[in-house]
Amino acid sequence: MILTVKKGRPLKGAYRPAGDKSLSHRASLFAALAEGESVIERFLVSGVTRAMLRSLTALGIAWELSPDHTLRVAGKGLRGFTPPAAPLDCGNSATTLRLLAGALAGAGIPCVLEGSPGLRRRPMNRIADPLAAMGAQIELAPNGGAPVAMKGGALKGIAYAQPVASAQVKSCLMLAALSADSPTVLTEPGPSRDHTERMLAAMGAKIETAPGKVTVYPQAAPLKPLCTALAGDISSSAFLMVAAAIVPGSEVRLERVGLNPTRTGIIEALRLMGASIAVEGESEMAGEPVGDLVIRGSRLTGVELGGDLIVRMIDEFPAFAIAAACAEGETRVRDAEELRHKESDRIAVMCGELLKLGVKVREFPDGFLLSGGPVRGGAAEAHGDHRLAMSLALAGLVSEEPVAVHGAEAMNESFPDFAQCLRELGADVRCA
Ligand code: S3P
Repeated sequence: MILTVKKGRPLKGAYRPAGDKSLSHRASLFAALAEGESVIERFLVSGVTRAMLRSLTALGIAWELSPDHTLRVAGKGLRGFTPPAAPLDCGNSATTLRLLAGALAGAGIPCVLEGSPGLRRRPMNRIADPLAAMGAQIELAPNGGAPVAMKGGALKGIAYAQPVASAQVKSCLMLAALSADSPTVLTEPGPSRDHTERMLAAMGAKIETAPGKVTVYPQAAPLKPLCTALAGDISSSAFLMVAAAIVPGSEVRLERVGLNPTRTGIIEALRLMGASIAVEGESEMAGEPVGDLVIRGSRLTGVELGGDLIVRMIDEFPAFAIAAACAEGETRVRDAEELRHKESDRIAVMCGELLKLGVKVREFPDGFLLSGGPVRGGAAEAHGDHRLAMSLALAGLVSEEPVAVHGAEAMNESFPDFAQCLRELGADVRCA
């Protein structure tokens, strides 16, 4: 699919994003591990969450999705999975693969976790090494990625210092730790998202948290089912924040967006650039802070980013780079080497595609240096990366020539309503 975006009028209106991707993955899997029926409202229905649901079916879990995106899951307990008849296809979803690997190690289920070529290049030794230290028998492909073959094995609790701040790794190990024979203590070098800690604790798991540290105790009682509505996806909202911030005269309201402090780095980064983003009506949805965001078109200036902020906006760099391209002056991002291990090598690929659109940008091992200014536009390629597809399209809102993103169907992985939503806010968007 080619998504073409042309410069047009200011963006105006309100949008309520679907449930957060990270919360949707967790809610569906954790519901399967609980005993009894869970009811999850505002579940994100997209490519990556369908990969999780498909895998749950293959593991003998019954679920039902209603037209209003309420998901009902019949949970069978921590050891309730049936060994699957064939390898589990995790599609493009590393969250599905890594979280399932932890749950399956805990349940002692032999199986193979497989995925798309894009998923196969992503590092799985970061889960396999600590799972093996817990006692799981696990084998990877020669490149250290999927397919991941699991052969069961009783688990013991470990103390493990994660070399990289990663919520997927932390969550994988936390799920395995529920079935270990003694407590597991995990530390990590930065503040990765803490949705697993919050959701499992709400389901009755015994979890202790301190900054950069989590202790998980063996789970004696069954996990309680979930009955919850999910907060709106801040990562999908980030595209709309950037869209409204870069188009002069825009005013966009995003409703009931998840504002977990481990995810709000993009709001801080855009504000540092001079963006006008107001937070209104703050409240809580099932243990997660939420609020409405009101974003107005603003003059942006370049900034320097690094340190802990990187992990709190790890998925937002493609969108952020478009804001930087429209800002006055230079933007420098450091400490972001992890971006090379996402759905694409987001430093190399983003820099390459921005250059094609006439943006002055230079790649560094751990980030980039970008000079803002008028963007020319033209043709770009999504490289199978949903966030790249949507970000590159945003450049068309302000560029001299339209931007045509090839391979834009990737956006269906996390934000199937992206084009429709931009159109409803007044943008000139075409899909062909
Ligand atoms: C996710 C964690 C992040 C993020 C991904 C979703 C999660 O990955 O990039 O899109 O739901 O836990 P890492 O934890 O590997 O950084």
